[in-house]
Amino acid sequence: MATKSNEQTKPINVGLLGIGTVGGGTFNVLSRNEAEITRRAGRPIRISVVADKNLELAKQVTGGKVRITDDAFAVVTDPDIDIVVELIGGCGIAKELVLKAIANGKHVVTANKALLAVHGNEIFAAASEKGVMVAFEAAVAGGIPIIKALREGLTANRIQWIAGIINGTTNFILSEMRDKGLAFDVALKEAQRLGYAEADPTFDIEGVDAAHKITILSALAFGIPMQFDKAHVEGISQLDADDIKYAEQLGYRIKLLGITRRREMDGKAGIELRVHPTLIPTKRLIANVEGAMNAVLVQGDAVGATLYYGKGAGAEPTASAVIADLVDVTRMHTADPEHRVPHLAFQPGAVEDTPILPLSEVETSYYLRLRVEDRPGVLADIARILADQQISIDAMIQREPAEGESQTDIIMLTHITREKNIDAAIVKIEALPVVKKKVIRLRMEELG
Ligand code: HSE
Repeated sequence: MATKSNEQTKPINVGLLGIGTVGGGTFNVLSRNEAEITRRAGRPIRISVVADKNLELAKQVTGGKVRITDDAFAVVTDPDIDIVVELIGGCGIAKELVLKAIANGKHVVTANKALLAVHGNEIFAAASEKGVMVAFEAAVAGGIPIIKALREGLTANRIQWIAGIINGTTNFILSEMRDKGLAFDVALKEAQRLGYAEADPTFDIEGVDAAHKITILSALAFGIPMQFDKAHVEGISQLDADDIKYAEQLGYRIKLLGITRRREMDGKAGIELRVHPTLIPTKRLIANVEGAMNAVLVQGDAVGATLYYGKGAGAEPTASAVIADLVDVTRMHTADPEHRVPHLAFQPGAVEDTPILPLSEVETSYYLRLRVEDRPGVLADIARILADQQISIDAMIQREPAEGESQTDIIMLTHITREKNIDAAIVKIEALPVVKKKVIRLRMEELG
């Protein structure tokens, strides 16, 4: 058996930036499972320094066992540090620190999805230039090893699409709205009370957090650059509890999905990249992912559908992903950069600039809810407009009007069409005098 050099057995030194929820979880899990992790990594992984503005908190969490500082810049330039773990979040100081760490030859482990979705191309280019790794398992779906699956487990496949419940806060809110018939605002307050939603929950409820994550998954699945600015982002704040109820009657459940799909359009390749509330058949496993849980469904041409389920947030589930990255980086630390797994799953020279399709070219089926006068000919007028746009109706229900009520709701499901066709039909439908309110339009995915 070959003996290991001193360089291969001495502890690898980690500088931890941010000792909040995930930082604390990382510290605790690394201490608790130290022996097991060392057996896997081949050498001890040691947090040598923790940087946080809140020194008192840092002292409390680390129990005085580790050097602490409030100067994160001193950590990323410290010659004794091998790996910097960035758990600060956002695109401000975190970006400066990550780039500085890379420039100083450090490997980086980060949970920062916003940073990678928006500035990932620049960060990975800098890392490749320096021959260091940037690992980011914790950036998408917390403890679920979806990055590992896409970068390694599924490399035989031509990935066709990914659909994911990748924001726990909104999934919790949607579950509460459906289970208890709560309005959105009430369910949001409950999420905040339980500590799921941030104090400012805008990124969660408006779909931005999910869009950061699906942008990362899309890049890994198709070997394209990060293109967050091209993603269609729509949250759940405008969702009406009535639509959840009608969807249920039709055999569907509404989930906030991040979706990315490879398409051929007019003989050219294109990628759909979108986040929006989506009707999915109740019979699908992913439709039954409830509460704050996450799940990602990946369709590959060889393997078929694979589903990854687990906790998408929280101290120790996210720490599980951070530490898995630390082990990976430790194992590959001494390897030649060309022999490491490429950042975006594809070799840097093989990344393609396949365009992200505009929303108007997205192909899917639709749920439409129309408030109409309840009299003869109304349905015929609407059906004619849909037919003129080549849109075929798949199912329909009409709410029974209450005694003396002259208006009713018609709910229609369509077959697959292009978004621009449905847009054109909605404009014409809303112009009919018998249509009394703006048409509610939701997208549907069969995920079959
Ligand atoms: N805010 C995220 C969520 C967790 O609700 O899923 C961190 O990505």
